[in-house]
Amino acid sequence: MRLKRIYLLGFMGSGKSTLGNALARSINWSFIDMDHLFEDRHAMTISSYFEKFGEDGFRLAEHEILVNVSEMENVIIGTGGGSPCFYNNMDVMNNSGLSIYLKLSPEILFERLIHAKQQRPLVANKTESELLEFIADKLKEREPFYNKAGLVVDAGRLSVDDYIQIIKSSDELKAY
Ligand code: S3P
Repeated sequence: MRLKRIYLLGFMGSGKSTLGNALARSINWSFIDMDHLFEDRHAMTISSYFEKFGEDGFRLAEHEILVNVSEMENVIIGTGGGSPCFYNNMDVMNNSGLSIYLKLSPEILFERLIHAKQQRPLVANKTESELLEFIADKLKEREPFYNKAGLVVDAGRLSVDDYIQIIKSSDELKAY
């Protein structure tokens, strides 16, 4: 493949890490989780970073992590759910690789996030009804950015093999 990096993007709970790990194993690349890399580099959790520097501080530091990973090779990158919507991050991704938006409905995201919200500062303290409303509103706000991805896929319906086929044909079609 000429392609050197693939960015998985989408809302919290859209399965970027699970898919990214499986895909990376299948094509013998490394999987980089931007959130984990962030926590390693800054030696603190994202929740603590939010507390200390606020969301603005987090978004700037997250942009710097993205610029770093955009220079790595043979990597599948699981991006933070909000990262496509700040700075020129979608351009950074699209200029350095293939970006794939894992699209899911607010209802499916809600089912997934209700059990996995604690470590995510934007949703950690929300009640169930607040959470559903938050997901619907934020998704509306974020989709114009997510839709700039090179590929938009229905993440509920595809298998790892489907993604591999899609990536291979996109690699043949596009000049990187
Ligand atoms: C965020 C999503 C999180 C993490 C941070 C903010 C967001 O990543 O970057 O909590 O703004 O949607 P995941 O999408 O990997 O949960």
